[in-house]
Amino acid sequence: MNTPTVEIHLTDEDLTTALREDVRSGLTAEPKWLPPKWFYDARGSELFEKITELPEYYPTRTERALLERVVGEIARIAQAEVLVELGAGSAAKTRLLLNALRSAGPLKSYVPQDVSVSALRMAADEVASEFPGVGVHGVVSDFTATLDNLPGGGRRMVAFLGGTIGNLVPSERAEFLRGIRDVLEPGEQLLLGAGLVIDPAVLVPAYDDAAGVTAEFNRNVLHVLNTRLGANFEPEKFAHVAIWDAENEWIEMRLEATEAMTVRIPELDLTVEFASGEQLRTEISAKFRREVLENELDAAGFSTERIWTDPDDRFALVLAERR
Ligand code: SAH
Ligand code: AVI
Repeated sequence: MNTPTVEIHLTDEDLTTALREDVRSGLTAEPKWLPPKWFYDARGSELFEKITELPEYYPTRTERALLERVVGEIARIAQAEVLVELGAGSAAKTRLLLNALRSAGPLKSYVPQDVSVSALRMAADEVASEFPGVGVHGVVSDFTATLDNLPGGGRRMVAFLGGTIGNLVPSERAEFLRGIRDVLEPGEQLLLGAGLVIDPAVLVPAYDDAAGVTAEFNRNVLHVLNTRLGANFEPEKFAHVAIWDAENEWIEMRLEATEAMTVRIPELDLTVEFASGEQLRTEISAKFRREVLENELDAAGFSTERIWTDPDDRFALVLAERR
């Protein structure tokens, strides 16, 4: 039997401590904001999986079709012994990569990393049973905090799929890419999945679906604050907002107070006032142009080897080598 290991570098207590800090700074700021990693408790991870199946949410199925087409080439170039996947979630598309790496060469192990313990355990168990010859070593950590605890053990490829790179603000993105460069050896690779700038008429509905699943995912951050910090948000009194910011080329998700509210957060001894119509920013989802991706990778110390895109130019997979 192939038993996966899961290393917890973020305990429940660490998560609560980090959430307290983010809530204190984000909800006392003007305008209010919260980092998107707090969507992903067990319910949030399940809601994200539902989003990936929505007719409007094109990124997952587009990236999967692209991977199906080019995964053989990626595996032949990468010749990876260890596949590290940041923000792995359910690792649904990763099976394509694991299969190709196994046929192309010397794959020994898979290291899924995520902040969501529930998603990580499920992914680690499933991959271990589907790939009996591949060691599975899960890591629960925050990829914006440190990447130092990722194991090595052979020639690595780091995969960061789904377009999650777009959920980082530009300064975080630069720091994150430099962090990956710092843990890799020269010649090791990064496979990055990124959404491209497309028509807002396609983009906006992907973040504001007719069935309201994205709205529920967005409001989940308030459920997390209620559960972890004893806050008394009434999530249904916040409306989901998704707008395309053409200047920054990102989708911004917000929660809008439908009436004036006073929220208590006893764990922080904090009272937060919301005016009617006030918006709280919960996520950005940046979309990219190819040259921006190449320039940002170059600035972080990576040389782009190949960029593949789908026929509609909605999504890109970039394979880059650490210099
Ligand atoms: N890679 C998957 C999942 C994308 S959803 C896909 O392509 O479908 C984004 C994932 O990143 C979630 O599983 C979430 O829990 C994780 N995540 C978000 N912020 C994170 C952080 N700061 N550190 C680690 N994981 C994070
Ligand atoms: C995880 N990430 C790439 C998703 C995205 O598209 O930015 C999260 C998401 N937010 C709303 N829908 C999906």
